[in-house]
Formats: sequence, C-alpha cells, structure tokens
Amino acid sequence: MSRLAGHNTPGDPRTTMRHDRARKNLDRYPTTSSPQYGRRRGWLWMPQHVTFWGGVFQGRSGGGRPGHALAVSKRRATTGTRFTELAGCAYPLQLAGMGGGVGGPELAAAVRDAGGLGMVTAGEPVPHGCGVGFLAPFVESADDVAEAARHSRMIEFFYGPPDPAWVGCAHDGGALVGWQVGSAQEAAAAQAAGCDYVIAQGVEAGGHVRATQPLDSVLGGVLARISVPVVAAGGISSPERVAELIAAGADAVRIGTSFLACPEARTHPDYLANLLTATGDDTVLTEWFSQGWPSAPHRVLRASLDAAQRSGWRAVKPPSRDDARPAADMAQYAGTGVGAVRTSESAHHVLRHLVSGLA
Ligand SMILES: Cc1cc2nc3c(=O)[nH]c(=O)nc-3n(C[C@H](O)[C@H](O)[C@H](O)COP(=O)(O)O)c2cc1C
Repeated sequence: MSRLAGHNTPGDPRTTMRHDRARKNLDRYPTTSSPQYGRRRGWLWMPQHVTFWGGVFQGRSGGGRPGHALAVSKRRATTGTRFTELAGCAYPLQLAGMGGGVGGPELAAAVRDAGGLGMVTAGEPVPHGCGVGFLAPFVESADDVAEAARHSRMIEFFYGPPDPAWVGCAHDGGALVGWQVGSAQEAAAAQAAGCDYVIAQGVEAGGHVRATQPLDSVLGGVLARISVPVVAAGGISSPERVAELIAAGADAVRIGTSFLACPEARTHPDYLANLLTATGDDTVLTEWFSQGWPSAPHRVLRASLDAAQRSGWRAVKPPSRDDARPAADMAQYAGTGVGAVRTSESAHHVLRHLVSGLA
C-alpha cells in the first residue's frame, strides 16, 4: 500500500497540512468569501461519505448501494462543495485542460476570474491559482511534475494507471492532486495512490475517453467506491445537467467542449464553425487519430474523421488558431453536449450560465 494511502481523509491532520500548503499558491485568487462574489450562498456541508439517496442516508464506502442510477438523489445542488473548498474557487466547475493549443492560459485565467478552476496542460504558462494537467503516457520525468507542482495549486493526471510516486511527487511540490478516471476500479486506485480528488469521466466526453460507460453509470460506481471529492465529466453542457450531477453527489463538474467556442480559447475558426452547428449525433468515438498515441479512443466530430480517412491524416493534435494547414481533416474533438454550443460567448458567460441552476 502507498505510504500516502488514507492521507486524504477530511479532518486527517496530514490532509489539512497539504491543503494549507496548496493554499500558498492562492493568495490572490478569489474565493467564495471574496467581496466580488458576495456572501457565500446556500452552503450545505455534507460529509462526502453520507448522501441522501431517495429518503435513506447511505454510506458511500460500504458499497451497499445497488445499481448506479443517479435520479433518486435528494441532495440540494449548491455552489459550495468540498471541491470549491479544495480548489479555492467560488463555483464547483473545473475547466478541462485541453491540449494541442486549443485551451491555454487565457482561457484558464478567464475561467478562474469567473469563479471556476482554470486548467492548462503541461508545458503551458500557468496563470495564478490554476492547475496543470499531465497526460500520463507523455510524462517525461518526475522532475517535470515536481516543477509544475511548485507553481500550481492542482496537478492532474489522465490516461494511465494511478501512480503513487507521481502523486507523492506533486504533493511534495505543494500541490493537490487529481486523477481523471473512467471506472470505479481506477477511481479506487487513484484514491489509494493518495489523490485528493478524482474526476469520473463518462463515455460522452470530448477528446480522449477512458470510460466505456455513460457518465451516470461511471459516476454512480465511483461515488459508491471512494470517499475523496469526485468531479463529473463528459457531455455536460446545460445548467440542468450540472445541477443534477451535483445533486447526485458530484462535488464539481469538469467541462471542455462548452468552452471551446469562447473567444479566450484558441480553437481554429473552421473547427469553431463546425462546433456551432454540430449535435451530439455528429460526434463519434474512434481510434483513428493515433499518431504517437495508439489504442486510445477519442471522441471527435464525425465530419473530421470522414475527411481524415480520405486524406490519411492521423495526428492527435486538434486544430488551433496557430495552425496554418486546413482544419477539415484534423482531430476536431467534441463531446456529446456540443449541441448546446450555438454561439461564441465569453468564458465568464458560459460558466455563469452553467452554474445558474445551483442554489
Ligand atoms: C479539445 C479537447 C482537448 C482535450 N485535451 C485533453 C488533455 O490534453 N488532457 C486531458 O486530461 N483531457 C483532455 N480532454 C478531455 C477532458 O479532460 C474532459 O474529459 C472532457 O473535455 C469532458 O467532456 P466534454 O468535452 O464533453 O465537456 C480534452 C477534451 C477536448 C474536447
């Protein structure tokens, strides 16, 4: 068992110390108690291991909840959650770090300024108070993780078995650590590796997809299995869905596709035009864009896959504003929630709309 296993229990002094250390990176970052956000609204503290399910309080860790349906939850969907406390943000919404130059620091900072957790991907400049996402297959050295951890509040990993050594390395640098997973089993491994929170990704997600099941099923299984805060990801694009997931026990939502159309993102104009007209049915899971990263399913706009199969283009990188080549056959990642993305609005507008159903 990892030396860190069990250190992420609320109230555990080691957990509190780590959270305090991570706060050092947050001195100028607005929180729920900052004047610009007014008073903390509707705070409902509920220990993570206890959730009100259909009139009966049930423990999460006992694994006794049959099935993984989310619809029966009666928990109030509020802006304050264990995740907002952990991340030091006003709203339980995390930007997905989006690689290949389509996300970036400007978008991350805009999400932070709107009250969410901004994220960049490894190698990009890190705006104050934002987190850094690493793709596990491409982590070159533990030193890179340690260095990033010294300059960011959150370090996150995706697409590889949770590794206690990397988690410990990020903790030693003073950051909190999350791992995006696609199953309850992987979530349990992430918690055992010492992660402070876990992102449960459903198969609806845009970009690379770890899950094989819909989000409701993955989230239900993850909530039943672990006790650290859980962020829900995949196809989320409406205030109703955000409220439903928080009421079901998620501590936050993580959103990528809905932010791709923001002016602060660096999405290629042709890619953007396609996003604004596509629906969820226009997305498809494929392994086609696999150059340098084989056997890793990803969800893209079907039109870009069709064009790539004609041209033979297989690069993983999505088209960004910096790409001179035509975007038609490049990997145009999108989640099933893309149908709700109809206009290019600021990150502030998108975020505040998505959290508008929370009390
Ligand atoms: C364009 C794009 C690029 C992405 N790049 C990354 C990445 O570099 N690292 C990562 O962990 N996840 C990446 N993701 C996946 C997200 O972490 C997240 O699971 C997904 O965006 C959630 O689903 P949604 O796009 O439907 O909101 C990307 C997603 C998109 C749409």
